[in-house]
Amino acid sequence: MVKIANIELGEFPLLLAPMEDVSDPPFRALCKAYGADLMFTEFISSEGLIRNAIKSKKKLDIFEYERPIGIQIFGGDIESMKKATAMAEEARPDLIDINFGCPVKKVVCKEAGAGILKNIPKMVKLTEEIVKSTQLPVTVKTRLGWDEQSKHIVEVAERLQDVGIKAISIHGRTRVQMYKGQADWTLIGEVKNNPRITIPIFGNGDVNTPEKALEMKNRFGIDGIMIGRASIGYPWIFKEIKHFLRTGHILPPPTLFERTEASKKHLSDSVKWKGEKQGVLEMRKHYGNYFRGIPDFKDFRKKLVSQNGLNELLDTLNLIEHRA
Ligand SMILES: Cc1cc2nc3c(=O)[nH]c(=O)nc-3n(C[C@H](O)[C@H](O)[C@H](O)COP(=O)(O)O)c2cc1C
Repeated sequence: MVKIANIELGEFPLLLAPMEDVSDPPFRALCKAYGADLMFTEFISSEGLIRNAIKSKKKLDIFEYERPIGIQIFGGDIESMKKATAMAEEARPDLIDINFGCPVKKVVCKEAGAGILKNIPKMVKLTEEIVKSTQLPVTVKTRLGWDEQSKHIVEVAERLQDVGIKAISIHGRTRVQMYKGQADWTLIGEVKNNPRITIPIFGNGDVNTPEKALEMKNRFGIDGIMIGRASIGYPWIFKEIKHFLRTGHILPPPTLFERTEASKKHLSDSVKWKGEKQGVLEMRKHYGNYFRGIPDFKDFRKKLVSQNGLNELLDTLNLIEHRA
């Protein structure tokens, strides 16, 4: 049984990666239904939170059925991060996750996200302060290091464990790599095999099939896998991996009916949660994946990414569902 503090996650948990503009409540509901064992909010700016920015505060919305769920925060200023932790705690998540992995320039230049990988003492200090400031378990999500010459993750994981984090998710790339090339899981395996490490280690990066999940599990001995992009428009990935790990068999892909039902729910929930305009717009990046591989789909796709009304879109999705 893998546990983060007292949170029981099963034998080999699959985590939904935090993803900005993706891992919101409507999407999380689907991932939960299809087997995600632990989910995270999108990253939330500590500076935004403490200034009461509407967008940041809305990301604190979490629901009972989502448990266990972590709220992920980021920022480079220790005091702001402590205040943001206190605000996140009021939303009653199961844990607080610190983002030390975001590679985006406007984040790293403030020593936030992966930017802090250039200043490991500060990373350790900030983590320690947050652990001390909250009753909740604190976890960290990070990368191998800043660049090829500074892949210090083995040492970093030890030091973060020593200041009290309860789990770490590691994306097998450096900041400089952004999302390019292939994720390298070798150092993730080294962290896991370090006899000093007792907390769960979750591997992350490029797992997009059940076979790949099994390969990573066997080769690197991690405690679970965090999945990001492969779940976008394809929340079935969690169920497919679990089934394969349990039985060695690949499930048939979702039917057209399952795909349209899932996308209708996703769309309706998005509109309910963020309003028609925003909900409709943000859904556009999901359709391509929901209907990947479906033949003769071009005209439907065009409609899905150009129509602006919820009812219109639901009609289109119903047409797709019932097409001969
Ligand atoms: C659209 C998008 C948004 C992301 N937003 C976040 C975020 O808010 N917080 C975070 O820690 N990582 C974020 N990531 C990184 C993912 O959590 C994950 O580490 C990365 O996508 C690699 O995993 P994958 O290969 O399974 O996608 C984001 C990635 C994508 C593609």
